Amino acid sequence: MKGIILAGGSGTRLYPLTKAVSKQMLPVYDKPMIYYPLSVLMLAGIKEILIISTPRDVEGFKELLGNGSKLGMKFEFAVQENPNGLAEAFIIGEEFIGNSTVSLVLGDNIFYGSNFGNRLMRAASLSSGGIIFGCYVKDPRAYGVVEVDEQMNAVSIEEKPEHPKSSYAVPGLYFFDNKVIEIAKKVVPSPRGEVEITSVIDEYLQRSELKVEVMGRGLAWLDTGTHESLSEASNFVEAIQKRQGLYIACLEEIAFRRGYISKEQLLDLAQPLIKTDYGKYLVEVALGLQNAQTVHS
Ligand code: DAU
Repeated sequence: MKGIILAGGSGTRLYPLTKAVSKQMLPVYDKPMIYYPLSVLMLAGIKEILIISTPRDVEGFKELLGNGSKLGMKFEFAVQENPNGLAEAFIIGEEFIGNSTVSLVLGDNIFYGSNFGNRLMRAASLSSGGIIFGCYVKDPRAYGVVEVDEQMNAVSIEEKPEHPKSSYAVPGLYFFDNKVIEIAKKVVPSPRGEVEITSVIDEYLQRSELKVEVMGRGLAWLDTGTHESLSEASNFVEAIQKRQGLYIACLEEIAFRRGYISKEQLLDLAQPLIKTDYGKYLVEVALGLQNAQTVHS
């Protein structure tokens, strides 16, 4: 499976923070926002990732992430000229996806929870159809909302409904087979002028090829859409990291634990960061001084 991170958009809801800087580059406590969705794809076992951003911001992501080789991964980059909608990621990524299955994660979605890594690995082993997640939220009106029956089968999917049919919001993390490219190409733009991801999901639903995995209370899905929720996300990461001494979305750690890089490579990566707690943490991980084998899984 290949992975795509969509990290474009105009970010106007976070102005003036995002007037000159990409939203997905903003700090969430001690690391850039994009680290979090990137860690999700890494935990799913995906090693080839396409990062899509705006013509203005794509260079910054190249500088931040490089070609991935330092993490034993492969990163490619592409531009989305205008924020025409999430489903456009599959059209821009057509060549990159090739004949593979694909996971899309939005560059501003943050997840953290017990056993999440194992669930991701399972989802990434999909061979046909699509998998989305359902997260119970107090007010789902700002999201895609999936209605499920008693057996947790999807019944309907709607984008930002005024009167939601359920409390299950669909987070920005999707797994699809290769048909997604052709399906995305046929999506008719919505009244707000976007090729909606919910239209793609609905097509899988109509074909009876959609699986919904409902996330339990043990999974935190954090929003970064407003100044308040962005600050709350930072506070959440800080609280967990300080309490546990284990890092959320530490890319180098995941690469090491997954066997993509050696102890020596991890120690090398720690060197330029050694003045920070993050860098010191990498050294501890390399030397096995903290022995939690699984951070997310
Ligand atoms: O966060 C989950 C929600 O994300 C889902 O529940 C919704 O179904 C889905 O439509 C999306 O809703 P949002 O209102 O959050 O979408 P937004 O337009 O804010 O875009 C999400 C992120 O993707 C944001 O960081 C900007 C980026 N983006 C957006 C568009 C429309 C792009 O990179 N390109 C785009 O064309």
